Amino acid sequence: MSSKPYIYITRKLPEEIINNLCTFADVGMWEKEEEPVPREILLQETKKADALLTMLSDRIDEEIFQAGEKLKVIANLAVGYDNIDIELATKYGIAVCHTPDVLTDTTADLAFSLLLMVGRRLAESVELVKSGEWKSWSPLFMAGTDIHHKTIGIVGMGKIGEALAKRALGFDMNVLYHNRHRKMDVEKALGVHYRSFPDLVTESDYVVCLTPLTEETRGMFTKDVFRKMKKTAFFINVARGAVVIEEDLLLALREGEIAGAGLDVFEKEPIDPQHPFLKMKNVVALPHIGSASIETRTAMMKLCCRNIELILKNEKPISIVNE
Ligand code: DGY
Repeated sequence: MSSKPYIYITRKLPEEIINNLCTFADVGMWEKEEEPVPREILLQETKKADALLTMLSDRIDEEIFQAGEKLKVIANLAVGYDNIDIELATKYGIAVCHTPDVLTDTTADLAFSLLLMVGRRLAESVELVKSGEWKSWSPLFMAGTDIHHKTIGIVGMGKIGEALAKRALGFDMNVLYHNRHRKMDVEKALGVHYRSFPDLVTESDYVVCLTPLTEETRGMFTKDVFRKMKKTAFFINVARGAVVIEEDLLLALREGEIAGAGLDVFEKEPIDPQHPFLKMKNVVALPHIGSASIETRTAMMKLCCRNIELILKNEKPISIVNE
């Protein structure tokens, strides 16, 4: 039996990324790129593993911690870690690492792209040209809503929120934010304004959800919240699907309580192709690609590998959740 540590990676990663891990550890990997590792295999592999490199689609709970007798670290390929029971991981003495910072700008770019897409009806317009339904130029044909000089309300003013605020300011938007703790330094540096959650949703033309999914934020966007929004306003979610009661969002869209939605995340992913969201012209749906640029995903994968290496070598990791 090998005396090297064993690392299991739950999705196929490029060889050049994991090469370094192979110099000091045995590395096993689920070889499919587009399919999550089946639970039984994950459990089997966890029994032998000193480290797991996981995806946000892997549910990491007590069953995994119990199976992982030697398990020291779980490195999740995401900044969010709501797929992992952190409290229990800590109880079992397992370090959980994630990938903050490296994805900040890329995710903010995507959030702002969704704003442009819904406001200016870009997805609808593309479809229309492709399907040959573009008959002529006319004064109000595909007329959308401006972005510049409108009010954006950012819910969750972490690093991605700040990066999004900078993009919005570049478009001359008025920037409001809501956060658990007021951030005076950010207000001063960027010229953004704090609002209570009800005030923010009432005043904004674009409400953008960036808050992590926690017990506190689960289901925070309810029908009452959508009812408070302007009828001309758009809702954008690049955080996690479960912060929204999707039924309530659907109702708000159907009843014209809000003008439209840009969604990169859903309660169930992948979303059912028959889901009513996908039939609505005023909904832009993306397949959870907030951080999906080659540069950023490469940096995230490298950061996961580095965190694993540092922990297995008894050194301080770069980004640990449960210190
Ligand atoms: C994250 O890092 O949490 C993102 O959702 C992944 O794209």
